[in-house]
Amino acid sequence: MPLPKEEYLSNSWKDGIFANKVVFCTGGAGTICSAQVRALVHLGANACIIGRNVEKTERVAQDIATARPGAKVIGIGSVDVRKLDNLQQAVERCVKELGGIDFVIAGAAGNFLASIEQLSANAFKSVMDIDVLGSYNTLKATLPYLKESGKKHRMDSKSLKPSPIGTGGRIIFVSATIHYRGLPFQTHVSVAKAGIDALSHSIAIEYGPRGMTSNIIAPGPIAQTEGLERLLPSDAVEAYTKAQPLGRFGHVRDIADATVYLFSDTGSYVTGQTLVVDGANWRMSAGG
Ligand code: HXC
Repeated sequence: MPLPKEEYLSNSWKDGIFANKVVFCTGGAGTICSAQVRALVHLGANACIIGRNVEKTERVAQDIATARPGAKVIGIGSVDVRKLDNLQQAVERCVKELGGIDFVIAGAAGNFLASIEQLSANAFKSVMDIDVLGSYNTLKATLPYLKESGKKHRMDSKSLKPSPIGTGGRIIFVSATIHYRGLPFQTHVSVAKAGIDALSHSIAIEYGPRGMTSNIIAPGPIAQTEGLERLLPSDAVEAYTKAQPLGRFGHVRDIADATVYLFSDTGSYVTGQTLVVDGANWRMSAGG
């Protein structure tokens, strides 16, 4: 049974807007990234999701494919984003089976709670390697195809008409907001996310002339995600929910909708930006 659409996408988008597009996503078997990819597949894209666990990644890929009859979704497990050659092999398979890459979501991440004293140098390095080096490797492996897609789908600067073949050459990094203010027991993740943000900004400037866009989605507390489960004790959930400015946690659909926006024609002139999707959580925590 396909997952009901309201679980991963609002009614704001037209079916088929991503027809003939291919999305490549690391961390694609996770709760947030799988919703992002499912939304894009629902709207016409084919997809390749990358994970570390073979069985889980293949199962999630099959499940995402039910979002649209005829969708092609490949799940490639056993990929460690810290190893560029792992990613290059996955990219080769994606291009061979799906014909190219138009959109990339760099979502693979590692996280655990640890004080600076508890954190070994190797633990710090592990998170930096998964998050920062992994995001860089994802870009590096997909860049030739993103450049090609960006060139093909570039909007004409004189007519201002959207490209008749849609959009492409776009990358989104899944980051966070914790490094805007600092958070105890999350030093390693905060430093890593700041690095990812800097990477995205640099790509926007360096590869804008090639027709590429690069943006960050910074989720706040999103219900039923591994990240939230790791960070928030279960007995604190109710009080923390009530304290949110909108009185609720985010839903994965909120992140999926933001993704669709940034990859769509509507988001054509948005690059080098961070789209914070957190219901004003971090402003509240920072004191307004
Ligand atoms: C202290 C820890 C630790 C912990 C691991 N380490 N867990 N240190 N507290 N809870 C240390 C280990 O002791 C080791 O250091 C080093 O980290 C590497 O551990 P390994 O298990 O060998 O590494 P690896 O298999 O590469 O695991 C990576 C990982 C792990 C990051 C440590 O947690 C992981 O694989 N996570 C993947 C899934 C995940 O985290 N998803 C959540 C994403 S949520 P020593 O010194 O002993 O060798 C998310 C939300 C972010 O990202 C947004 C925040 C708001």
